[in-house]
Amino acid sequence: MFSDDKIANELQETFKNRFKSINDLIYIRAPGRVNLIGEHTDYNNGFVFPAAVNLEIYGIACKRDDSVIQVYSEDFQELKNFDVIQEIKKEDSWIDYIKGVINELKDIGEIKYGADIVFKSTLPIGSGLSSSAAFEFANALLFSDINSIKISRKELALLCQRAENNFIKVNCGIMDQFAVGLCREGSALFLDTMSLEYEIVDLNMSAHKMIIGNTGKPRTLADSAYNTRRKECESALSILKKNNDQIGSLRDVDIDMLRENKGLFEENIYKRAEHVVEENKRVLDSIVFLKEKDLENFGKLMIRSHESLRDLYEVSCRELDLMVEEALSIDGVVGSRMTGAGFGGCTISLIKENSVDMFIDKVGSNYEKGTGLKPEFYVVDAVNGAEIIRKGE
Ligand code: GLA
Repeated sequence: MFSDDKIANELQETFKNRFKSINDLIYIRAPGRVNLIGEHTDYNNGFVFPAAVNLEIYGIACKRDDSVIQVYSEDFQELKNFDVIQEIKKEDSWIDYIKGVINELKDIGEIKYGADIVFKSTLPIGSGLSSSAAFEFANALLFSDINSIKISRKELALLCQRAENNFIKVNCGIMDQFAVGLCREGSALFLDTMSLEYEIVDLNMSAHKMIIGNTGKPRTLADSAYNTRRKECESALSILKKNNDQIGSLRDVDIDMLRENKGLFEENIYKRAEHVVEENKRVLDSIVFLKEKDLENFGKLMIRSHESLRDLYEVSCRELDLMVEEALSIDGVVGSRMTGAGFGGCTISLIKENSVDMFIDKVGSNYEKGTGLKPEFYVVDAVNGAEIIRKGE
């Protein structure tokens, strides 16, 4: 079942108290993701390199004979329900992620059966580690299984992205849902977001660890700023397309081509495009370094990526910058950057194993002194993508 017995026991207990029936239980696990490099490239048909991490959403479910979904969230301490065969209305709550997924599943198959479910998460919610994608994927796996809809993981990732775009109305790319569904243990996933071809790349971390730093800064305005950046990238693309109709996306542009056309751009639009073009190149280079077990150079590209997100794409913030700066002052840190959409949320650092305690101590106290916010740190491993497990397996 779950690797963590304590969570399994707790969830079973809650399930028994809430829903009585404990026969034919289905266990669900969906991890969060950390993106190692390749930020704000996915909606530009570019490259990304995320890993799924052992901060996860866990669920226990039991199929019902009718079409009602009843869900208890341990994290929100709240019970919600709806009927899948009735019209599905948004209610601006966490249940919307399940509703969005059910809506999309209804488009590809017959959804007749609901379930009783309890969820609990070790993945911090709304901190830029893809808690929403994990929740969507967990439910997409569960309800496709319960309703005997055969669908590949790739298709499920796309379906969850559609749920987020169409129902939640966040115009995200494909990275998060893909990572949550398809990543593998000990590895990160090198994804070409245009073809959706991917390669599982061994992280070769030997004596290093991944440490996530949660700034504790709420990601306010993140969604609207995210949509603005998308529009800015579209403007950059349309300028370049006027001169060259072979260009389908910013992924087809290299830095020389961009520089030649610099005079056509407003300054901020140019900066956005420059970030995307260089970030794609950094992903390709970083994969080569990682395969050569060259973590030092991989880390340098992470640092360049952060600088570019801060100065060109302008999606960092004082808190993320300070945490990265403090991280880089620790001996044994090979790379550090903001991860995810930005405007708050988390950083990811690669660090020699024996420097981890010092990192948490020093970065933690200096960050708190500088911001007044209490950070959290998670030393994480790369794990397998989401799965459902039936009792006895
Ligand atoms: C969010 C989105 C992703 C991606 C990142 C930025 O996590 O959901 O699709 O665009 O931001 O790289």
